Amino acid sequence: MVDVVGVFARWLHIASVVTLIGGMLYASMVMAGAAGALTKEAADTLMERAAARFRPLVWTAVIALTLSGSYNLITTPGHSSLYRMLIAVKLLLVLHVFAAALLAAKPKNPRRVRQMTGAFVSGLVIILISDYLRHIF
Ligand code: HEM
Repeated sequence: MVDVVGVFARWLHIASVVTLIGGMLYASMVMAGAAGALTKEAADTLMERAAARFRPLVWTAVIALTLSGSYNLITTPGHSSLYRMLIAVKLLLVLHVFAAALLAAKPKNPRRVRQMTGAFVSGLVIILISDYLRHIF
């Protein structure tokens, strides 16, 4: 019998990771550089509007990751101490990603690009740790 809730939780987790980490990677590595071709005023307006449109997606991804991640944790009890240590490291990095993403999506933020760069790099490390977690108990 297919575990429908488990499949949905995994889809929600992965779709939220793609939205949050992919969105910040694109904004900091692609959009911010491309906006450099505009005047400072036009570039600021573009980045402000992009942040305003990204904000609801960030909140949705943060809530969905917390719900689906908690579901994953609750439904797979009894892990080794290595697993528990790595998941603790992951959750600390998750706090950094959530805080930096929510700050970066705020209006009139001169540190936005740096915050998004730090957050997507932490996100890539989290994905590596999560990949490893799938292969241990
Ligand atoms: C930036 C935030 C996060 C990222 C980038 C992330 C990334 C991932 C990825 C890529 C997977 C592997 C998915 C799969 O192949 O099934 C995963 C699994 C998992 N995540 Fe997250 N996650 C995040 C937040 C969270 C949170 C907040 C929790 C807990 C409250 C959590 C708990 C878990 C658990 C328990 C697994 C299953 C690991 C296993 O296979 O044993 N994650 N995560």
